[in-house]
Amino acid sequence: MEAPERDDAPPRPPPQKAGIPDAPEGSPPMRDEAEDAGVPPLGAALPEADFWSALYTRRSIRKFKPDPVPRELIDQVMHAGIWAPSSCNYQMWDLVAVDDPELNAQLAQLSLQMANAPVNLIVSYGRDFSEENYANIQSASALIQNMSLAAQVLGLGTFWITQTGDSEKVRELVGLPRDRMVIAVLALGWPKVMPKQGPKRRPLSQVTHYNYYAGKPIPSSVDPEDWDPELLATYQRARVLNGLRHNKPRAWEVRALVTALDALVPDGKQRPEDPASAPRWLDVLPCTGIVTDKLSIERRGFAFDVVERSSEVAQWVSTRTRPKAGVRGWPTSSGLPAPDEGVYDVVSCIFRLEDLRAAERVELMAAMTRWVKPGGRVLIGFVSASSFHDRTEKLRARRGGPKGVEYVLSPDPNIGPFQALRSAEVVGLAQAAGLTLENGLGLQAAPQPEEIDFRTRNFSARTKKIVNGVSKLLGAIERLPGAQNRRGRFQFRVFRRPG
Ligand SMILES: Cc1cc2nc3c(=O)[nH]c(=O)nc-3n(C[C@H](O)[C@H](O)[C@H](O)COP(=O)(O)O)c2cc1C
Repeated sequence: MEAPERDDAPPRPPPQKAGIPDAPEGSPPMRDEAEDAGVPPLGAALPEADFWSALYTRRSIRKFKPDPVPRELIDQVMHAGIWAPSSCNYQMWDLVAVDDPELNAQLAQLSLQMANAPVNLIVSYGRDFSEENYANIQSASALIQNMSLAAQVLGLGTFWITQTGDSEKVRELVGLPRDRMVIAVLALGWPKVMPKQGPKRRPLSQVTHYNYYAGKPIPSSVDPEDWDPELLATYQRARVLNGLRHNKPRAWEVRALVTALDALVPDGKQRPEDPASAPRWLDVLPCTGIVTDKLSIERRGFAFDVVERSSEVAQWVSTRTRPKAGVRGWPTSSGLPAPDEGVYDVVSCIFRLEDLRAAERVELMAAMTRWVKPGGRVLIGFVSASSFHDRTEKLRARRGGPKGVEYVLSPDPNIGPFQALRSAEVVGLAQAAGLTLENGLGLQAAPQPEEIDFRTRNFSARTKKIVNGVSKLLGAIERLPGAQNRRGRFQFRVFRRPG
C-alpha cells in the first residue's frame, strides 16, 4: 500500500456520518435503563457533527460569556466524558460540576484560572486505583478530552486546568472524599471569542516514527552543556509555536531593560528624518525575542536586525518589531544570511548567553565583536549568579518544586537551559574577544512585588503572606547603597570595540 504523505496539514478525513451513537433497538427505555444503554441526555436533540471538524476546530477558550450553561448541556458533556475508556473499565472517576457562582468564587480564591467560566467541572479519580503507569491519570485524561470535544460540538468552550492551586482544597470545597484525587478541572461555558487560529503543532514528521524511534529528543536538563545547538534551535522553534500567550515578557523585566538602556545607550530615541541613514542595531539570539520589540520601540532611531539559530524564530520576532527587523542567522546552519561584519553601531545580547554551552559563549562573543563597527558598542544583559536568582532555584529544588527546563526562572521562560553568570565571567569573555568595558549597572536585588504576585498566584493565602513578608525584608535590603549593582539579578554591561 502506498504510504500516506506526511506533512503538517490535518489528514483529509473520509466523509463522516453524524457522531450520534446508534439508537438502541426496540422501544425507548426508561431513564435509568436509557443511561445503561448509553443513551445521551439530549438524545435525538444532539447536534449533527463531523468528528474531524470537531477535532481540528477545538481550541482552549479562556474568556466566556457570563450566561449560565443549562444543566442538560452540562449533563451531555459529562455523559460524553464517561464514555471514555478507563483502565480495566473501572471508571473510578467522579465529577462535580460547579455552577454555583458562590462556590466558583471560592474555587477562584485557590486559583484565578477557575475564575473564568460559569462552570468548573472538577474531575477526580480513585486515589489508589490503577496506579500502574499512571493509568488513573490516563483514564481521567481520556474523559476530559471526550468532554472537551463534546462541548465543542455543542457550541460550548472549555479549557483544561491543572494549575488549580491546592488540589486537596479543591477536593474539600466540593465535598469529594479523601480517597478521590482531583486530577484537573475543565472550565466550561459559552465562548466570548472564538480564536480564529490556535497554537500550531510540532510537525508530524518530527514527533512520530514507524517501528523504531529515529529522532533526537529535546532534553529536559537545565544545564546548557547537555544541549547541542541544533536541539536548542528545535526547542526554541517549538516554543514560538506556542504563540504570543506563552511568549510575553514580564513587566519587571521590561522595566529593567528600559532603565539599563537609559543609563547605557541613551541615544537613538527619536525616529531619524532619513531612515536610510539610521544607525544599525543587531539584537543577537533573541530566542523568542520577547524583549526585542520593546528594544526597537525604545530605540526607534536605529534600524534593527535580529539574528537567530532558526529562521522560524527570527521571522516570528521580526513580525513583532516596527518596522520589521531584518533577519540574520547564527551559526550559519540556520539557513539565513549571516550578519554583515563591522557594520553595526550597537550589538545587543540580552539574557541570551545563559543558554549556551561555555564554548559557544566564547564563539558568540567573538562573532559579536566582528559584527559591531570599530568604535561601536556591545550591550550585554545577563542574570547574575550572585543574586537571589540561584538561591531561589536551590530553595525550589529543595522543596521538591518542578524541575526541568520548562520551569527555569529565567526571564524568557522559553529560553531553554539556563545558567546564571558571574560578572567577572562576562567581562572576561568580552575582553578576551577584544572589547573594552565602558559602563555597567545592576538592577533588582530583590524580587519585585509584581513578580511575587505572579509567582505566588496559585499559592494558599497563608503561604502568600509568608512570601510577602520575606519580600518586604528583601525590598529593604535592595535599597541599601550599592546593593543593586552588587546583588542585582539583572546585570547590564556596555563594551566598546576599539576604533
Ligand atoms: C494536561 C493539560 C494541562 C493544562 N493546563 C492548563 C492550565 O492550567 N491553564 C491553562 O490556561 N491551560 C492549560 N492547558 C491548555 C493548554 O495550554 C492548551 O491545550 C495548549 O496551549 C494548546 O492549545 P489549544 O487547546 O487551543 O489547542 C492544559 C492542557 C493540558 C492537556
